[in-house]
Amino acid sequence: MEAEELRVGFVGAGRMAGGLGRGLLRAGKVPASNIIVSAPSDRNLAEWREWGCRTTHCNLEVLQESTVVFLATKPHVLPTVLQELRPAVTSQHLLISLAAGVTLQKLQRVGAAVFSRGTGVGDGDAALLQSLLSPCGMCEEVPEPYINIHTGLSGSGVAYVYLFAEAMAEGAVKMGMPMGLASKIAAQTLLGAAKMLLETGEHPAKLRGDVCTPGGTTIHGLYQLEKGALRATVMNAVQAATERACEMGED
Ligand SMILES: NC(=O)c1ccc[n+]([C@@H]2O[C@H](COP(=O)([O-])OP(=O)(O)OC[C@H]3O[C@@H](n4cnc5c(N)ncnc54)[C@H](OP(=O)(O)O)[C@@H]3O)[C@@H](O)[C@H]2O)c1
Repeated sequence: MEAEELRVGFVGAGRMAGGLGRGLLRAGKVPASNIIVSAPSDRNLAEWREWGCRTTHCNLEVLQESTVVFLATKPHVLPTVLQELRPAVTSQHLLISLAAGVTLQKLQRVGAAVFSRGTGVGDGDAALLQSLLSPCGMCEEVPEPYINIHTGLSGSGVAYVYLFAEAMAEGAVKMGMPMGLASKIAAQTLLGAAKMLLETGEHPAKLRGDVCTPGGTTIHGLYQLEKGALRATVMNAVQAATERACEMGED
């Protein structure tokens, strides 16, 4: 489908919707005039209007005006929103839930389909979604059980990384570096390490080994992290967040 023909809607206009919307516009995937967004208040809508998108307080209007609809409310609001949208959903709609812990089964009760693909979502729909989301980062089709793991790893994982960055910077502050500079260097270090992982495709343990000079600084630092059980703690964090996402799906 050509970008000009695509009509994209967002139900919910907060951080997730905003990030995606900005990504789509920057990449020229959809013209702003083909995007419509709904939210109960004007709090977030004003920014969308500045981008040239249409806004409304009526969720049904979003469905009527678009074929690809991102559901971007908080998970606890989604059941009410789905109830409200149900009468207007047609087989032409591709509904995509961004909500943590909302199962396909719940969504399919409204007769719609989502990614991880529910029944009724064809290869064309999946390809369209991948093409739309690719400028906003990686977009992969996964089996449904991976969705909650993805939330534990990536959705919540950004917060673990912020904590790690903060701790690295504070270590430098402890040794006498100002926080502003330490914070920038910590962020740059994370960025460089993340790029190496993606670009080389190597196992993290290999890259870690490569930078450990025998008897050097890095192995001394790593020994302290191992002593503090960083690895097991992070694994437990991913598990706890994944389990919480599963619990939220059972509500
Ligand atoms: N899977 C992941 O990795 C991941 C990561 C982060 C977030 N998420 C999910 O993304 C979703 C959105 O999170 P967020 O951080 O973007 O939340 P947010 O910033 O709080 O935005 C929520 C939006 O929903 C709107 N809203 C509230 N009630 C509504 C209703 N009845 N109808 C339509 N819109 C309504 C809010 O309106 P106002 O503008 O009026 O307040 C706001 O615009 C959540 O479900 C979260 O679980 C997933």
